[in-house]
Amino acid sequence: MTDSIEAQRPSSQVLPHELPAALRDAGLVNWIREPLDDAVDRRRRIIVPPAAAVMGTPASAYQGALMAEARHPDTVFMMGDNPALPTMPERPVLKDFFQLRLSKMGASHLMQSAKVAVGRGLDEKVIMACLLHDIAIAGLLSANHGYWGAQMVAPYVDEEVAWAIEKHEALRYFPDESVGYTYPEAYIDYFGPDYDPPEYIHREAAAARQHRWYMTSRLVTINDIYSFDRDAVVDFGEFEDVVGRNFRQPKEGLGFDGSPVAHMWRTMIWPNNFL
Ligand SMILES: [Fe+2]
Ligand SMILES: [Fe+2]
Repeated sequence: MTDSIEAQRPSSQVLPHELPAALRDAGLVNWIREPLDDAVDRRRRIIVPPAAAVMGTPASAYQGALMAEARHPDTVFMMGDNPALPTMPERPVLKDFFQLRLSKMGASHLMQSAKVAVGRGLDEKVIMACLLHDIAIAGLLSANHGYWGAQMVAPYVDEEVAWAIEKHEALRYFPDESVGYTYPEAYIDYFGPDYDPPEYIHREAAAARQHRWYMTSRLVTINDIYSFDRDAVVDFGEFEDVVGRNFRQPKEGLGFDGSPVAHMWRTMIWPNNFL
């Protein structure tokens, strides 16, 4: 019995009896890493989940308890490389984020969407927008993902690509039968049949529809793959040429070029930093 429990326990988990009851009861044991050989001075390291991730959930009540744990002399907050994540190169490029940071499902969704756009012979700007449209969901934050994603990539892509990524957030809720876009079936499952997006989304979509780049963003929603195919095999290599022509990789690496969005890329490199 003990053996099977031992076998199931993730290596990153500290023994439950070492933690205060409040943290054990809240199921937060996985936020604390045991002293690993590769950890700083073999000390325990605590990951405090970001406010945006726990707000409105029971876990928000335990941030104080997690922080109190860090006062123990054998414990520090997670800062720098988390050994649970693959190490990023010193000067990371877009491909590194796809392969080493973005969620598997997220990266696959982006590449599947871009692949459909390639198959339809669409413009490279559209392919690029498809490849990046949900990058925020896959690596940073889901709420307002079109806006976060557009900002993240704006310094490196054509203005039209960033615009299309931002506006897909609103446009995906509104059918445009003239180009064959209907309300996604998946959204009926996700949000219920009676979901009506907030007023600002209605306004954003109406304004986007009048814009000269409307069709670029609309094509992102048309090529958006709502049925996630977990078995689809798509390799980033298929898009290397398009990325090479349409994404200006900074020579210092994404996260270190001093751009107004460098901190967003650094947040994906070290997502568990306390500060
Ligand atoms: Fe999206
Ligand atoms: Fe999408």
